[in-house]
Amino acid sequence: MSRSAHPAGPRHADVLPEGHYSAPPTDLNALDSKVWAETVTRDTDGVLTVGGLDVRRLAEEFGTPAYFLDEDDFRARARSWRTAFGDDADVFYAGKAFLSRAVVRWLHEEGLNLDVCSGGELATALSAGMPAERIAFHGNNKSTDEIRRAVEAGVGRIVLDSFQEIVRVAHIAQELGTRQRVQIRITVGVEAHTHEFIATAHEDQKFGIPLAGGQAAEAVRRALTLDGLELIGIHSHIGSQIFDMSGFEVAAHRVVGLLRDIRDEHGVELPEIDLGGGLGIAYTSDDDPREPHEIAKALTEIVTRECDAARLATPRISVEPGRAIVGPTAFTLYEVGTVKPLDGLRTYVSVDGGMSDNIRTALYDAEYSVALASRVSEAEPMLCRVVGKHCESGDIVVKDAFLPGDLAPGDLIAVPATGAYCRSMASNYNHVLRPPVVAVRDGEARVIVRRETEEDILRLDVG
Ligand code: LLP
Repeated sequence: MSRSAHPAGPRHADVLPEGHYSAPPTDLNALDSKVWAETVTRDTDGVLTVGGLDVRRLAEEFGTPAYFLDEDDFRARARSWRTAFGDDADVFYAGKAFLSRAVVRWLHEEGLNLDVCSGGELATALSAGMPAERIAFHGNNKSTDEIRRAVEAGVGRIVLDSFQEIVRVAHIAQELGTRQRVQIRITVGVEAHTHEFIATAHEDQKFGIPLAGGQAAEAVRRALTLDGLELIGIHSHIGSQIFDMSGFEVAAHRVVGLLRDIRDEHGVELPEIDLGGGLGIAYTSDDDPREPHEIAKALTEIVTRECDAARLATPRISVEPGRAIVGPTAFTLYEVGTVKPLDGLRTYVSVDGGMSDNIRTALYDAEYSVALASRVSEAEPMLCRVVGKHCESGDIVVKDAFLPGDLAPGDLIAVPATGAYCRSMASNYNHVLRPPVVAVRDGEARVIVRRETEEDILRLDVG
């Protein structure tokens, strides 16, 4: 198993069962509700629809490739996280998964907070009216300019990630005549992904301050002495695409242990604990994510139990789901350009996008599902690899998939669960234009992020 993936990234592909996808699904036209957005269905002609709209019409109006995002589903998922955690906890949507001004407004209306990790995300949040006090600012190397803008705006918290940053934020806050609410991000020695978690090994990464060797305790000591800072809590984020709660259990145990040590040393009970994001979603029918209410119950019980054992009042919990809110709400619609059977191997299906709109397959070996969208077909299944139009053989969108044997150029195919980390990690590789994000609700579709144009590309190229 690869140990070289991004420490904050997922490795869900390499723990799939042996022989995954060896047999075709019994019904190629069926849509597994686990992987598709809530309002996606087939109409009486078998054409895929979202929010009541036929994808053939959507393709005509908005072109392909394009991401179609089910707004009602997004709002419902945001709301269910909010409701699951209730008024005694805070849900911060992780903007890195996908952020746009429309999304910021939906979050605001649904009562969620927002985690940003760059000046660009902060600007997007503020420009769409997210109250600054509901914003958390993350990042392992925030620039002094970004820190200054965040403090000036009055963000609810800055999550400190290094010893240098403790001093930097304190200094800027003092200069601006204010006291900044902060948390300290610690690494608890746990890294969790999907079905497994690894304790002890993962201090070797760029994020946070290690609990090991008393470093986190020293960071707390320093933060408590600085006038520019109000230390409100401890932050821990253990990984991505996690289904198994045992990693959170170990993390919470260690964070609460630190809170207890802080109380014993300084006589201070920090009022907040943030357990980060990372909750998994279904990319294929093999994935079994938990519901927000189960996650909320499990996390609350873990923290309460650990705090009772340490005789601490239970702190206010916050979480930062990104993928689990936006991931399942969107699919990418592509037009098939070529269908190339390779005898005895598989059929390569080339679409009009690729690694520029979904880098996750190339980067993480991620698994996706795919379906013929513009019609149904009773043809025999054929083993396919859905690939893009880039000049690179690793330009794979769906590595192993079954599609109907009569698939032809001009057909539309849809890849579900592309709401998270696809548009937000999109690139202009080969000067391919980044696709639009179209929000669909109640029979209406509107562009919330427009398609890039060649003019956009040439505008940056000053010659
Ligand atoms: N909070 C912190 C501090 C994080 O670093 C992250 C993700 C999240 C929350 C949200 O995690 P989520 O709930 O979305 O899994 N590009 C990778 C994922 C990188 C995640 C980085 N940090 C991917 O495409 O899978």
